[in-house]
Amino acid sequence: MAKSKWTEFTQNAVGTEQLKSAGSEFKSGWKAPSNIAIVKYWGKKDGQIPQNPSLSFSLNGCYTQTQLEVKYSPKGFSLTINPEGKEFAPRIEQFLRNVEPLFPFLANVEAKVTTANSFPHSVGIASSASGFASLALCLCHIEEQIKGNLGFGSPFLRKASYVARLGSGSASRSVFGGWQEWGYLPELPNSTNEYALSLSPIVDPKFFEMRDAILVVSTSPKVLSSTQGHALMANHPFADARYAEARINLNAILKALRKGDLKRFYDIAESEAMTLHGLIMSSKNQPMLLKPQSLQIIERIKAFRTEKGINIGFTIDAGPNIHLLYTSDVAQIVEAFVNEQLKPLCENQKVIFDSCGKGPELV
Ligand code: DP6
Repeated sequence: MAKSKWTEFTQNAVGTEQLKSAGSEFKSGWKAPSNIAIVKYWGKKDGQIPQNPSLSFSLNGCYTQTQLEVKYSPKGFSLTINPEGKEFAPRIEQFLRNVEPLFPFLANVEAKVTTANSFPHSVGIASSASGFASLALCLCHIEEQIKGNLGFGSPFLRKASYVARLGSGSASRSVFGGWQEWGYLPELPNSTNEYALSLSPIVDPKFFEMRDAILVVSTSPKVLSSTQGHALMANHPFADARYAEARINLNAILKALRKGDLKRFYDIAESEAMTLHGLIMSSKNQPMLLKPQSLQIIERIKAFRTEKGINIGFTIDAGPNIHLLYTSDVAQIVEAFVNEQLKPLCENQKVIFDSCGKGPELV
């Protein structure tokens, strides 16, 4: 198991004096993608340590754009957030206070955060992943500017992923484009619970052609937050079996990603999605998150797949919306099917067509 990186990342941390002598005022802006988990992170320990490793790909069109400005202030730390970001203000403020030992210059700054999502809040796409990833990238970039460094190599991204994880576990994965893994897996070199790894170098090119049609079954507010969800695993009777299964699935899916085995990939993705919901349903006093339309969509996807003999699959987050997964070679036929047969089952016919993206961008 990897040792805590806290010591590593707090070494050479930048303080107030360095901020003042480097120019007192800095800003950075990043766009970071949302990601969709295929092997699900569900259950965590103190310090944002996952109970099992997870795997995802970054989206292209669903992202958060954040700008962070810091200005030296002898009065200590203060924060302003734009009206669009107000809803996340308490979580952002808590986060910035928590990461102060990593960025000691925060102790004496007026900080201004301006953040906006490219996707509506109501469609069930987690904005915490893209939001904290973009904010973590801004923080690390400002630190680099103060140090006089340029360039965003692996050590920079590793630290940004580490910092993003402290805001939201899944945000650790949103620091990378393409495919990524987060969490210790004995068989995967360099994997750690502390930050995510890019899997892009080992993934067959066809997986970069992955599309995700997000079938929005309901835009009602979330009935189960991720934080509440992770807590459900603490006393769950199937917890140990689940964590073991996640590792088995992760090893199997890594093999499928390497070999370009779409069929095996979709099998595992669907099993992970149903397991997540199985775990939620078998937790004490929990609501059913899937709606009748979610189940109808799943049935239609399965029937269409059998009838046409093509490789497609689905995944589901902790909500009622279904993510239909397919590759660009079958996009035309699949999207016609979505428009004819699945759209009518969505709330206000809402479908978001997205795809595997290239990852964060400096803006
Ligand atoms: C079902 O990363 O949102 O989407 O660490 O408490 O912020 P916190 O949780 P979060 O949990 C995501 C849960 C999931 C699966 C996943 O993304 O792996």
